[in-house]
Amino acid sequence: MPNRIKSLLAFLALTTAGCVDGVQSTLDPLGPVAERQMSTFMVTLWVSLGIFAVVGSFMVYCIVKFRHEGQITPDTPLPEQGHGSAITEIALILVSVGLVGVIALPTVTGVFWVGTEPANEDVMVIDVTGQQWWWKFDYPELGVSTANEFAIPAGRPVRFNLKSADVQHSFWVPRLGGKMDLLPGQDNWLWLEADPAMLAANNDQLSTADNEPGQRWEHLPDDYPFQGYILYGQCAEFCGDSHAFMKFRVLVLDDANFRKWVEWQKTDAKSTLDKEQADAGLLAFRQNKCGSCHMIRGTSASGQVGPDLTHFGTRTSVAAGWLENTKENLGHWIMNPNEVKPGNIMYKTGYLQLDENGEEVQNYKIKLDDAAKNTIVDYLTSLE
Ligand code: CUA
Repeated sequence: MPNRIKSLLAFLALTTAGCVDGVQSTLDPLGPVAERQMSTFMVTLWVSLGIFAVVGSFMVYCIVKFRHEGQITPDTPLPEQGHGSAITEIALILVSVGLVGVIALPTVTGVFWVGTEPANEDVMVIDVTGQQWWWKFDYPELGVSTANEFAIPAGRPVRFNLKSADVQHSFWVPRLGGKMDLLPGQDNWLWLEADPAMLAANNDQLSTADNEPGQRWEHLPDDYPFQGYILYGQCAEFCGDSHAFMKFRVLVLDDANFRKWVEWQKTDAKSTLDKEQADAGLLAFRQNKCGSCHMIRGTSASGQVGPDLTHFGTRTSVAAGWLENTKENLGHWIMNPNEVKPGNIMYKTGYLQLDENGEEVQNYKIKLDDAAKNTIVDYLTSLE
């Protein structure tokens, strides 16, 4: 194979690799907003492809048909010149205006439709706060607050009020709809909905292999208290060192499970460890100042700086959707915050870590040894 073709194939493989992984594909919508946006995109795409095919064919035809045969010299006469055809020109203008209309109609009506909260429907409100580099989700009507992972009921529109605590971020759940910026000093909003029928149709195409450990799932894991789907979200506006790790997950539940989820989220943290172990865990958590930034409702840890960890053990991910929630990953995150998420606050204001020789590692201000780490990890992963 010629090298030029090889590099073209390599380029295509790199640039289209993301399209194969459907969990964040805008071309595989799971809600009315995403579906409408995709159909508008498709109209534009087909019209553009049509224009490309027609204009391209004419061009190739003309190049082949009217090419000069033989050598061109300074004496070669110019081809016969003309002023074109008025009828052709008027026809081309009319066709162009018509095609712009074909694209403009669904685009303009779609812009208004997407920008208007659905009337006559019971819209749920979620306040989203983006910060470097995690997400806070508050349900003002339900009294629930959570971080990096939140639930919505299938079939009900949700209004997301978007604000930023620091720099510019962008809220994006590709399979539910387009993105919207979170700007400091300006409140934006958008509405999204997960459609039960689309989810069910999508479900038919899933195999059990989709829930393999280490894979990205579309179903909630078997040991999660509720049945449902996981949709993946992502910050879509460069917001600093760890922008690429500012992810989140949307749990889509049916109505009954959503109500149970809400009641459960309102409860205080409960540890599955015995009391002595849980107390030791909370003590290590407090002694290492984790509680000054993190809230664990029902305990003396009431920090507001970082994500709420009240039901942490049941979250499917750690470090804002970046790692699966396993003891190993959590331990790694606690001990090497800057490696997992460069520049984050836990690292910058964090604790002092000892290396294998017992030497203090720079940039950490509070000592955390392996035993303390394990106690904290066991405690946090036991919270439900
Ligand atoms: Cu937040 Cu990018």
